[in-house]
Amino acid sequence: MSIMLNELLSQPAVVNSCISQNRRAVKEIAAVLKSGNVSYVVTVARGTSYNATICFKYALELSAGIPVVTYTPSLTTIYNGALNYKDSLLFAISQSGMSTDTLEVVAKAKAKGCKIVGITNDRDSLLAKQSDYLLFLAAGEEQSVAATKTFFAQVCVLNMIVGEVSGNPAIMRDMEKVGEKLDDVKKLSAQIDDAAKAVKDASNFVILSRGLTMGLADETALKMKECCYKYTISYSTSEFIHGPLALIDDNARVIIIAPDGECRNDFINIATRLNLLGAKIVAFSDIKDVLNISDIKIKMPPCTRWDANLVYAMAAQLFAEHMSVRLGLNPDSPRNLKKVTITR
Ligand code: AGP
Repeated sequence: MSIMLNELLSQPAVVNSCISQNRRAVKEIAAVLKSGNVSYVVTVARGTSYNATICFKYALELSAGIPVVTYTPSLTTIYNGALNYKDSLLFAISQSGMSTDTLEVVAKAKAKGCKIVGITNDRDSLLAKQSDYLLFLAAGEEQSVAATKTFFAQVCVLNMIVGEVSGNPAIMRDMEKVGEKLDDVKKLSAQIDDAAKAVKDASNFVILSRGLTMGLADETALKMKECCYKYTISYSTSEFIHGPLALIDDNARVIIIAPDGECRNDFINIATRLNLLGAKIVAFSDIKDVLNISDIKIKMPPCTRWDANLVYAMAAQLFAEHMSVRLGLNPDSPRNLKKVTITR
């Protein structure tokens, strides 16, 4: 078994330790966000951790109306610039706590008087030391280059913040109960393996989703690139129509991440349109009308707004891992990559 598979299968235990480790810190950070002294949040991260910030952006803006600015590190690392950070709180997310550009942005923001929320899987990391508030992922050391369980823990702890700030106890309940749905996803592993096998020879993929699961679509595209060496690009179903739709012919392979909910009609419409254009669709969904017109169907357990990213993350990670293995690759050590990446 690959380390990646072992790590992603540990996610039901990860969610429990992540919740129990962070209850108090989540309340403390939420109190700061609700104090009236913070009018917006800034996030900084790279790679998979960046994709977790996209999940957070949708969730916090939707639930609490607090704007979330995704910071582009080059503003600091290349141009030596900074925001004025007045009335803001900076969330810096790095599983290793070692990504150099994230740390540089943190140092500059601190120098400007901004308070830092650090989210990391290493309590002794530089990020942890620089943080005013620490959310510890408690996921256990992640060895596979492809981050899985730490993405999961990041989304979980950020959802906890959203629940506390918006005063919505259902979010916390969803986090506490997500393990049951993850067990259902584990049972889909053989079916997901068949799906991966069926499309593994395609050289490129489009991934579509919408709204709260867009960060996961971006993360799935990253996993397909690093584990399977497939050129994969993610779009929202609506952005996709504004030009990229021209990519579609009967050679196209499109993965749809489509949990039932507010985006239901969007998912049905795009699947119908793609089907008419001859694209081959791999659907991760619980919407009958999407599954019916898709070529490869992974019937997912019903999800809420808040647990969908976690439940679908496990299915998407299984898909990338299984495809990597089917291709004869090693998902744990993709070519050209290291666990900690040094960039500016
Ligand atoms: C994830 O699968 C990647 N290996 C990579 O993108 C990683 O997420 C990125 O380098 C950020 O690392 P960090 O979370 O340790 O800062």
